[in-house]
Amino acid sequence: MEQLIQQMKVILGTNFGLYFKVHTFHWNVTGPDFAQYHEFLGDLYESIYGNVDTIAEKLRALGVFAPTSLSRMLELSDVTETENIPSAITMMSILKQDNDRFMVHLRAGIVAADEANEPAIGNFLQDLLDQHQKHAWMLRSFTE
Ligand SMILES: [Fe+2]
Repeated sequence: MEQLIQQMKVILGTNFGLYFKVHTFHWNVTGPDFAQYHEFLGDLYESIYGNVDTIAEKLRALGVFAPTSLSRMLELSDVTETENIPSAITMMSILKQDNDRFMVHLRAGIVAADEANEPAIGNFLQDLLDQHQKHAWMLRSFTE
């Protein structure tokens, strides 16, 4: 159970880090295809942000408190921060890598949920993985 709780915290932090990065890219993207990127990134951050609340509430259901500070979220996040403003295509490539990393954590969470005999959490994480596999396909398609 401890393993699952720890993994769910990393999933929360990484989901938050990924959400925040996508939102800043939505604001800052430039180039001839601006409108297309801006809209794609807008849909993406909304979708990723939409899962933050449920992940945090799963932690509460497991009997622990959710993080209360941005610094703690950052500590838990496996998404590195981007301080400069990359080109649109580089943004897609960065997000592809971050999304892949997030899926590694989701897979680890699914295994931990199975070991902790928490099928409802495992099921939830499988749904998340399904969403992020779709994001991976789309992000990959920009750079292929
Ligand atoms: Fe916007």
